[in-house]
Amino acid sequence: MLLTEIDHVAIAVHDLDAAVDYYESTFGASVTHREVVESDGVQEALLAVADSYIQLIAPTSDESPVAKFLERRGEGLHHVGYRVDSCEQALTQLKDAGARLIDTEPRPGSRGTTIAFVHPKGALGTLIELVQEN
Ligand code: CO
Repeated sequence: MLLTEIDHVAIAVHDLDAAVDYYESTFGASVTHREVVESDGVQEALLAVADSYIQLIAPTSDESPVAKFLERRGEGLHHVGYRVDSCEQALTQLKDAGARLIDTEPRPGSRGTTIAFVHPKGALGTLIELVQEN
């Protein structure tokens, strides 16, 4: 099995602070990491659930892919991040299996991870992120 754990469930939101407040006041969750990932046009807050995270993401500009997602679909589930031992190895295996990839090469993700996205078309309608912890 290529996937070792669920790393995070990513939820697209308009207002990051309001979304964090909701998870804190409703579920008693707390933020373990915040980061602006300028290359992806997102700011994120990670809230730990055991060894996984809820990843709240909000766009940093109107040009952000997340801004376009929010326009089209509104707030809600954006992608699922699965942990893999090696992003590079996983991509090779997925290419061999004929999967449609967004990232053909691993690239830097938030909190020092290495990541790659798999296209939702051909993946049962779900945007998938492969996450390698470094
Ligand atoms: Co993610």
